Amino acid sequence: MNKVDKLIEAATLARSRAYAPYSDFQVGAAVEAEGGDIYIGCNVESASYGLTVCAERVAIWKGISCGEKRFTSIAVVVDTEELTPPCGVCRQIIWEFCGDVPVILSNLHGKTETVQMSDLLPRAFDSKFLK
Ligand code: THU
Repeated sequence: MNKVDKLIEAATLARSRAYAPYSDFQVGAAVEAEGGDIYIGCNVESASYGLTVCAERVAIWKGISCGEKRFTSIAVVVDTEELTPPCGVCRQIIWEFCGDVPVILSNLHGKTETVQMSDLLPRAFDSKFLK
């Protein structure tokens, strides 16, 4: 299985574990770390809706907390006909921890598209402005 399909498969597994009783909108994400390890995340909602965390950030936080520093690609799986891109908050976090990586969007029916982070978040703010 190629790397892209592996990442989509991992994100699909993560999606099956989504905790989304309020929105009923299940999202799965998988990031590949520089060394090749894959970390998965699903959205986890709260009864206090604003505390919900998106699948993309859960996957990245899991990798970071396991000692990873950078990631080389990310896949996002949602069962929508029009492929779902990461929300604005997640675009910022993906940019900071992954940089200008390919973002693989997929649904459960084999539809996939790869978009580049710099197209999703042009002229991004990041740590270089803090120096
Ligand atoms: N969600 C994600 O997990 N990732 C995104 O990029 C978009 C939104 C989740 C948050 C919430 O649990 C549900 O989708 C509906 O917004």
